[in-house]
Order: sequence, then C-alpha cells, then structure tokens
Amino acid sequence: MNNDEQLRTPLFDAMVQLAESKKISFHTPGHKSGKGISTRFRKFVGNKIFSIDLTTLDEVDSLQKPKGVIKEAQALAAKAYGAERSYFLVNGTSVGNHAMILTACDPNTKVIVSRNAHKSVIAGLILIGAEPIFVKPKVDTQLKLTLNTTFEDIKATIENNPGAKVLFLTSPNYYGVCVDLKKIISYAHEKGLAVLIDEAHGPHLKFHKDLPISALEAGVDMCVQSTHKIIGGMTQASMLHARGERVNLNILTNILKLVQTTSPSYILMASLDLARMQIATEGEKLLSKTIKLAEEARTKINKIPGITCFDKEIIAKYNLGDLDITKLTITVKDIGLTGYQVSQLLNTKYGIQVEMADPFHILVIVSIGDRRDDLKMLVSALEDIAITENQLKLTSIDDIQLPVFDNKVAMTPREAFFDKNRFVTINESAGKVCSEIITVYPPGIPILVPGEIISEEMVDYLKKMIDLGATIDGLNEDNTHIGIVDR
Ligand SMILES: Cc1ncc(COP(=O)(O)O)c(C=O)c1O
Repeated sequence: MNNDEQLRTPLFDAMVQLAESKKISFHTPGHKSGKGISTRFRKFVGNKIFSIDLTTLDEVDSLQKPKGVIKEAQALAAKAYGAERSYFLVNGTSVGNHAMILTACDPNTKVIVSRNAHKSVIAGLILIGAEPIFVKPKVDTQLKLTLNTTFEDIKATIENNPGAKVLFLTSPNYYGVCVDLKKIISYAHEKGLAVLIDEAHGPHLKFHKDLPISALEAGVDMCVQSTHKIIGGMTQASMLHARGERVNLNILTNILKLVQTTSPSYILMASLDLARMQIATEGEKLLSKTIKLAEEARTKINKIPGITCFDKEIIAKYNLGDLDITKLTITVKDIGLTGYQVSQLLNTKYGIQVEMADPFHILVIVSIGDRRDDLKMLVSALEDIAITENQLKLTSIDDIQLPVFDNKVAMTPREAFFDKNRFVTINESAGKVCSEIITVYPPGIPILVPGEIISEEMVDYLKKMIDLGATIDGLNEDNTHIGIVDR
C-alpha cells in the first residue's frame, strides 16, 4: 500500500477549505454554519463543528452521485482495505446489511444465514422476501456463550441446500470470535454462492498481523464494517466494501441510493475519510499498543478468583477461525453476580462503562482510544467486586439457559412480518408464529425471528430475561405482550 497516498484526506480537506472560505450560505442546513444554532449547543461544543456541517455542494461532492472528493475518499478506502469499491454509510452497518441483502438476493432467494446474525440482517430479509436457511452457531455451555458457526456446519448446510445462492455470516461476532473465513469462503465460491459478511466488529483487522484475517483478505464478495464501533469513525459511520465478480456493483450502487439519506452528514463522512487515513498509516503502531493493553488486562483478569476471560484456546476447541484478542469477554457468573449487576456496579460505583452485559458476562472493547490507566482501573474494580460485592449473590444464575437457536419455522420473515398480526400475552404465545424481531439488546441477535414458532422454552426464557431486567426489543412497551401472526 502506498502510505503517502493514504495520508490524503480529500473529503475532509475540501470541507475545511469550504468552511474557511466563509461563503454566504442560502442553503441547508438552516443553522448557517452555527449562526442559528442554540447558544447552549454552541457553548458546549464550540463553533467549528458547525462550519463543517455542510450539505451537498460542488466543492464537497454528493454521496448519491459522487464524482469529486467523496469519490476520491471512497477510492482511497477501497485501496486501503483491498476492495474493488468501497462506499461510505451514514446509517451504520445496519443500512449496509440491508443493502448487501437487497443487492445479492431476489424475493425467494434461498440464503444460508448464521443464526447469530444482527437484527438488521433479518430486516434485510424482510425487505426483500428472501428465504433464510439458518445455521446454528456453536455454544459453550460452560461459559454460557454463543460462539460462531463452524466450517463443517456451513459445508453440511450448503450440501443439503443445493438451491441456496447466498451465504451470509457474521465475523467477528460481538465477542471477537471469527469463523474460518478462508475455508468457508473458498468452499462457498466453489459451490457457486456469493458470500456476504457482517464485519461490523472488524474494521481494524486488516492492519495488524496479530489480528484475524479480514473478510476481504479471505476473498469475500461484500462486507460491511462499523468504522464507528472499533476505530475512529463517528457513531453511525460505517463502510461497505465490495468486489464485482459475483455481485453486480451497479445494482449495489443503486440500492445504496435507495436506502441512504439524500442529506448525509458531512461530519460523519469526514470521520470515515480520517479514520481510514489513520488506520492505514498508523494502524500497526496503534493496534500494537491496543493488543498489548488487552492482553495484559486479560492476564490480570484471569488471576481474579471467580472471574475468567477466555482466549484463543476456545477457537481450537470448537474448530472456529480465530479470535480478535482486543475484545475482553469477562465471565462473571462464578462470583455469583449477573453480568447486568457487575455492569451496573462498574458504572455506579467505579465510573466505568462497558460495551454490554448479559446474564453471565460483561464485554469490554479495547481500542486505539484506550490508555493503560483505564485498563488498570477496570482490573482493580473487578478485583474489588470479586472480593466485596458477592454478597449480592444471585443463586439462580445457573438456572438461566442460553437462547436455543433452533425454533421451528412456519413461514418466511417477510410473510410473517406483513401478515395480519396481533399482540398476545407472552404466556399465551406458545405454539404461535412470531411476527416481530425479538432481541435481547445488546447484542441485538434475534432470539425470535418473524415466521418462527414460539416454543414453551422460549416463553420461559423470555420471562426469565424480563425478570433479570434485560432490555428486550420487539415486545410491547411493558414487556408483557408479543406480536404473533393472527391465523
Ligand atoms: C454484528 C453486528 N452487526 C451489525 C450491527 C449494527 O451496526 P450499526 O449499529 O452500525 O448499525 C451491530 C451492532 O451492534 C452488530 O453487533
């Protein structure tokens, strides 16, 4: 890669130049470079940010039809990541997942989907009407953690479904667990399937040799990355990367025009331009430090009685692909507290906020923005909690099961979502067909997908999660009712 070229930030430079020219604006945004913004807002963030809150103008190009600096910035991203074409996204990886599915599928296309997909993947399937064939991810019953799908399971599903045209996987998952990308992609291609990867958690992988192989390096056709989750993008700023051998890039370009706003935030897009520059030119150095911090913390956390933080051994145990070691999945169930309780304690007592919690774990994302002192504070807070707080002991933690990802399917997600629906109490819902995407959020992996039959076990699981105070998306506001197909 030509690092001098990667130092360029054409979009950001054009924005700064336009802001500094102080032209009189009779266009949107209505705050006119901050002159019309509320004083409270300006007082807190300062003036400058408003001067680069621009709109589509000749000087700064158009995301809908890029032919200037946005085109150049996207081309630099494609070069840095090794794509044929890269696209800036301003509605997160969610819109990228929608666009990938709308591009690669027709209504009724059979798509093999790892069941640990984010809800936006199900939304994409609803939009197009494609038929998912779900593959169950491996689950570690001791850790009580859903991992990822294996090559063997994907291969068997491809063999059993010769009509499938598309394979959709999530790698890394939220916990950094990757599938065996190279083996799976090359097998799927051999069998004629296009491969799409939700790589929300992997925009950094390409830039350090000690991190797992990236989807593009492994030969994927399309992937989406949440630049905002892991590296320097601002919230909502993601990228979609594509290659045209098995995917029609003209259709993809048109679909993105359909699903993205006509008023993209230039601040978000500039953050993509700058995040790409930073990771392409300084990534190795920054990530070396990140990896070191994460590994030091993992070692220390594993010395705390009752608390564990798994490492790459888990990959070999389940024949998966690799582990992104910058993610720390911290299992707390053996100190007798739920992940929710530990997360709450860290927040209220120690001023530490983690990425997410579930009944058994907390998840810590270590990134290029972390400092050694931050991790020291985390380790010492966990040591403290392990010793002093376990009188809160929740004896029933071990009774809580993981969601079972083998619900029976009665109809496609689209059929169920758009069919006549009604709400019933959770107790009444067993045996009925779910019409909503039900997720415990985060991680946003649906425990029920529209079209799946709600089992007695799922009713129990939902009730237990509600009792634990989990955030459940897709139920009614009071968490008492669930949407079903009214047949
Ligand atoms: C695996 C995965 N895919 C997609 C998404 C959605 O990404 P975004 O929030 O950027 O829309 C998430 C968000 O948590 C995720 O974890």
